[in-house]
Amino acid sequence: MTSATNPPDVPPAKARRDFLYFATAATGAVTAGAAVWPLIDSMNPSADVTATGIIRVDLSGVEPGQRLTVKWQGRPIFVWRRTPEAIAAARAVDLAELIDQSDSTRENPNLSADMPALDENRASDETGEWLVVIGICTHLGCIPQGQDGAAVGDYGGWFCSCHGSHYDTSGRIRKGPAPRNLDIPPYVLGSDLELVIGT
Ligand code: FES
Repeated sequence: MTSATNPPDVPPAKARRDFLYFATAATGAVTAGAAVWPLIDSMNPSADVTATGIIRVDLSGVEPGQRLTVKWQGRPIFVWRRTPEAIAAARAVDLAELIDQSDSTRENPNLSADMPALDENRASDETGEWLVVIGICTHLGCIPQGQDGAAVGDYGGWFCSCHGSHYDTSGRIRKGPAPRNLDIPPYVLGSDLELVIGT
């Protein structure tokens, strides 16, 4: 796993403009949208988060199409309530088109074995409505853009401006130097829409 540092040639303001974090806590759920900070510097993990490694986020207020970022173990976690169009785009892709065609259990700890990088294996459930990925480019660790829904790259997911990696609506690398799909954190998302990361 690469670290979340940015190369020295990337202006901090540009590299960090997607760093909109929703408040999280280890012991209590926080309603999405309750608080937003613009800079990663203001999002140092609380002692509780660091001690337990688990965060809980109430996603019940998230609208279809909305993306949000939470912080887990110092890393940005991209959460996306995908639209039917985004899901369909991810599922229309043939495996042969992918740069990284397989996700290992290290890359997706929610898998019981290494699996093809199908969207069905990367989304939270069969419906595919929720996608949860670690927001760190697998090339050299920059934070991809796209959480604002604007700079989503050529494949509708995320774009890493550090060296030009494009990720699709399933977080899979489709173009650029990144060698692997975006990793997925260990998590549980129940029917009550409480997202628990770090389980
Ligand atoms: S860090 Fe190089 S393309 Fe993302």
